[in-house]
Amino acid sequence: MTREEIEARVRALSPWFHNLELEGVRTAPDHFLGDYPGAVWRALAPALPADLSGKSVLDVGCNAGFFSLELKRRGAARVLGVDLDARYLAQARLAAEIARLDVELRQLSVYDVARLEGERFDVVVFMGVLYHLRHPLLALDLIRAHVAPELLVFQSMIRGSQGRFPAAPDYPFEERDVFDHPSWPKLHFVERRYAHDETNWWIPNRACVEAMLRSAGFAPSPVPGTEVYLCRPADPDPFGGPVYPARRGEDGGAP
Ligand SMILES: C[S@@+](CC[C@H](N)C(=O)[O-])C[C@H]1O[C@@H](n2cnc3c(N)ncnc32)[C@H](O)[C@@H]1O
Repeated sequence: MTREEIEARVRALSPWFHNLELEGVRTAPDHFLGDYPGAVWRALAPALPADLSGKSVLDVGCNAGFFSLELKRRGAARVLGVDLDARYLAQARLAAEIARLDVELRQLSVYDVARLEGERFDVVVFMGVLYHLRHPLLALDLIRAHVAPELLVFQSMIRGSQGRFPAAPDYPFEERDVFDHPSWPKLHFVERRYAHDETNWWIPNRACVEAMLRSAGFAPSPVPGTEVYLCRPADPDPFGGPVYPARRGEDGGAP
């Protein structure tokens, strides 16, 4: 493809959320987050295995495929990117074609990851999706139950306190003040919009991110300077899995 052809195809698929570099063509040079996700990747990359030879990767909410492509570049045998939005998947398809990287792409909601059961994934990426979900804990439970990765690479937008909260095992009914502690785990509900985006539903503080991950059966370890956590499955899963049975049919997924 000539540069002009790439520019035309990038334009036809805009707007882009991922600022990719495709043979010198930038897909989102004026991104409101700056060089996104490049800046996140530079902080995260040293914390990830440098060699993913023989490993398989699932990227849930892959968008235009930035992380899928980077993990494929690290030698992963298989990378599957899934997203709810066909337009983003078309961007990812174009990016993979131009980068000449073999990344599989499929339209799938996180609520339907049970459809992937039986396919083994060593690494699952779940970045930037949690706060877009009306049922965030269900999504974490489903990932833990059905794709059970060795390593979950997780990120959420965080608002409110950055503090950690060492919760007691129990509190008496009369205890009220603890809920007003700034670092008590809180998931802020957005009834209308945040950042001009009506799909931002629940935005956790830092203690809440960590508590939710633990509650879904993961042992989270923060990547310094980021909102990213590397999570290993904790044994056992404290709550034993999702409350709703998995949908394995072809009935489509609700957002
Ligand atoms: C903020 S972007 C994050 C993209 C990428 N993971 C990253 O970290 O840069 C959120 C992505 O999640 C996708 N998404 C939203 N709801 C989803 C769902 N229920 N299942 C799968 N993907 C979803 C959106 O289409 C979008 O591509």
